[in-house]
Amino acid sequence: MLRRITNWFESRLNLAETLGPLLRHPVPCGLVGKGGWFYVFGSMTMSLLGIQILTGICLALVYVPAADNAYTSLEALNYDVYMGWYLRALHNTAGSGMVIMAIVHMVQVFLWGAFKYPRELTWLAGVVLLLLTLGMAFSGQVLRWDADAYWGTGVGAAMMGRVPVIGPALVHLLLGGPVIGADTLSRFFALHVFIIPGMLLAVLGLHLYLVVKRGVSTVPEEGKLVDPKTEDAKYEQELKNGVPFYPEPFWRDSFASALIVIVVLGLAAILGPAGPSAPPDPALIPANPRPDWPFLWLFGLLSLAPPEAETAIILGLPVVLVGVLFLVPFIANRGERHPRRRPVAVLSVIVIFLVLGVLSWYGAKAPWSPHMEAWSGDPVPEKYLKGRSPLQLQGAVVLQNKNCRNCHALGGLGGERGPALDGVAVRQTRDQLVRQVIQGGGNMPAYGKQLRPAEVDALVDFLSTLRPADEQVARDPTSGKR
Ligand code: HEC
Repeated sequence: MLRRITNWFESRLNLAETLGPLLRHPVPCGLVGKGGWFYVFGSMTMSLLGIQILTGICLALVYVPAADNAYTSLEALNYDVYMGWYLRALHNTAGSGMVIMAIVHMVQVFLWGAFKYPRELTWLAGVVLLLLTLGMAFSGQVLRWDADAYWGTGVGAAMMGRVPVIGPALVHLLLGGPVIGADTLSRFFALHVFIIPGMLLAVLGLHLYLVVKRGVSTVPEEGKLVDPKTEDAKYEQELKNGVPFYPEPFWRDSFASALIVIVVLGLAAILGPAGPSAPPDPALIPANPRPDWPFLWLFGLLSLAPPEAETAIILGLPVVLVGVLFLVPFIANRGERHPRRRPVAVLSVIVIFLVLGVLSWYGAKAPWSPHMEAWSGDPVPEKYLKGRSPLQLQGAVVLQNKNCRNCHALGGLGGERGPALDGVAVRQTRDQLVRQVIQGGGNMPAYGKQLRPAEVDALVDFLSTLRPADEQVARDPTSGKR
């Protein structure tokens, strides 16, 4: 009976006919020796991607990608949903694991010279996969819509805003507006759930296709040089003495993948979910906004760099690094493959990881944050201060310290989320101003808990001076009170 069912499908799908040769395709005999264990890192990365897809789908069932509910939906996952905390922990741990395994895979390929002819394209696809994986890490960090995520995005946006000419337009595209708001979260959700994963799977398909078509490299031997002219013939000869991918190399891949999955399952249970730390609040700037670990090194570098060099580093360094990664197989696509004969390659790896490690360590403790133009706590322009009473001046300081211009423009500078405050006294009475500041509403946070009554007094006193000289302040129509 079972046989008849499988036959029914097989005669229509021809799966065994297609996959059989794929499983049994010959690979170099080195894969069944001791060196064979170096070929498992790619599969390990891929099995973690599998965990990410599964846990990601489960998380999306509960997560609300809306600025006012995202945080509570994460708390619900942590505390209310059955095993929700573990789901979050697993997604976070496997995500970090994926970044780590992708890097390990890449270092192995680099040290073994496996990127050399004819596998240049396989390497390039791999570099794109690394970038997309990092893109997932960053966009995922933003979805954890807490204070860190909020300011992490702010730092990212401030960096992008430095691109000459098109910087502001780029920030607008990324954030869905001039400041971080509800649209920002929707955009990052689309990035994290549709756009980047779609690209990732497509490029992964290309990568695997190339791995099968071009074959995996042999275990490097000293003095055995790669020469594009003779390499193909040599490799064909190698495959004649090769072994089929199934069973041995296949089971090694499976074993290593199972191992990393078990490690991640255990680590997730020990480490628990990441955050959410505190609700995002544009009014509260934690002293130390910090990106997740894959980006800490850049943060650390910026904290050490002189301010004049910041822009050059922010814009130049990533381009240079990615450029170098792309160029690797073109700089050296022939010659020695064994690491013992390539001291420069080995040394570069050591130096790069030492530097990244030290910078990350700095990044984890450095008191640095880029100047964030869009939500500036810039001083109130002078013309709004002339002839004001001490209490009103005090109010101007509150306005500056509470970063109201995060969302409100004054004198043409500031966010656009709320109305410009220049003529606010014409529109609102004192009571209305007090209510707006204390209770917020209409997309403005309530400041009742963050301002002392005296500060509210000063602030409102200052706000009620904001009107053109020739216009009256607003009146309450019921009492005539100003
Ligand atoms: C997160 C963005 C945001 C921040 C930060 C913010 N506001 Fe607002 N504010 C708004 C929005 C949006 C509105 C419009 C509310 C509405 O339409 O009901 C608003 C409205 C107002 C109004 C009424 C303006 C009018 O013309 O009707 C005042 C006054 C005001 N804000 C003062 C402040 C002060 C003072 C601070 C700092 C303590 C501040 N806001 C911080 C977003 C913000």
